[in-house]
Amino acid sequence: MKVYIKGGYQTKFGELWDKSLEDLVFESISKVLKDTNTNLKQIEVIYVGNMLVPQIYNQNHLNSLISELFNINIPIIRVESACASGGVAVNQAFVALKSGLYKNALVIGVEKMTDLPSQKISNFLMSAASTQERLSGITFPGLYALIAQKYFSDYKLTSKELSYISIKNHFHASLNEKSHFPFTISKKDYLKSPVVSSPLSLYDCSPISDGACSIILSVEKNKNSIELLSSQLATDSISLSKRNNICEFKSTKVASSNAFWESGLEIKDIDLLEVHDCFSIAEILALEDMGFYKKGEGYLSSKLKHSYYFGKLPVNTSGGLKACGHPVGATGVKQVFELFNQLNGFCKLRQVINAKIGLSQNIGGTGGTAVINILKK
Ligand code: COA
Repeated sequence: MKVYIKGGYQTKFGELWDKSLEDLVFESISKVLKDTNTNLKQIEVIYVGNMLVPQIYNQNHLNSLISELFNINIPIIRVESACASGGVAVNQAFVALKSGLYKNALVIGVEKMTDLPSQKISNFLMSAASTQERLSGITFPGLYALIAQKYFSDYKLTSKELSYISIKNHFHASLNEKSHFPFTISKKDYLKSPVVSSPLSLYDCSPISDGACSIILSVEKNKNSIELLSSQLATDSISLSKRNNICEFKSTKVASSNAFWESGLEIKDIDLLEVHDCFSIAEILALEDMGFYKKGEGYLSSKLKHSYYFGKLPVNTSGGLKACGHPVGATGVKQVFELFNQLNGFCKLRQVINAKIGLSQNIGGTGGTAVINILKK
């Protein structure tokens, strides 16, 4: 059974203080139905990628909330896998359609994070890390800073190499009207941005964002359908201290090699990527762990401009998590929607020419979960 993506809809990402959680869910689902000419009656199941609504709003029952908003009684399943919640929701819909259980599924990823101060959100985000890490007082910028420090020491690199990644992602976001930060940054801006957790500065970090994104998966094809060739999920230890090497994510390696096997494709077949750059170092690890660059050389992708939308292997044409924004539950769905738009030629100013195959990588925590989705025109 082949599985297709019929279409999608992304709300603006950013600080959306004039919109409630319900507004984001309603906008995203209503617009994806309208844009794909789908009657809600055709949808047999909804998967909801979300991490933080229970902590932020004391609301555990998103399934029923969506049932009420749309006056429906179909199965609605909330999927939680930290920052990979959206990617895992896509994966679960793919598995259900592939097995023949359903013919049409809607996947929505949603997060509303900016109603509380960053300190509170950082604390809630740490529920994706180990108890030992949490009790030490470290945050996610701190955990990824440890990875960056070890990486710099192993490969004799500096923040200069990280800057190429952030500058490229801000450039792409400046071409995407849905992005949280639709502006470019210069090397000077990067170098003078405040340190968040050394060696990571503000411009190495994804922001705290609101937003939602929905896609419709179907076993039937329409004129814009893009095939979801493979969706693979892998996991790893929750604690960084339990890893042999913190400069690579085994979950990414396992999920990507399984996805290449499932799709029958190789590295050279991939035309563009959306990867999980929650911090700039994470984009480098992603490119290396999947085999697109050798260890210690991932930064060359942006330094040599290969990862720009006009380059030979574009990466994060949406602006990535860094600059398109990171409403955590929505990110994995947005990555797939960006690839859908690119493969259909809908991306206007940031359109990649002649792209046929795209791959997305969505991470939870410090690589405790990884999801790889491969789409083909
Ligand atoms: N990149 C660029 N600018 C940012 C930014 C970022 N990541 N985060 C905030 N800003 C900007 C804001 O827009 C604001 O600009 P303004 O003064 O022009 O309005 C300014 O910085 C201050 O914003 P504020 O919300 O007060 O920042 P903060 O200091 O509370 O938070 C971080 C900044 C980096 C600590 C926060 O964004 C963060 O924790 N990011 C990581 C989130 C995370 O861990 N996600 C999970 C990944 S696994």
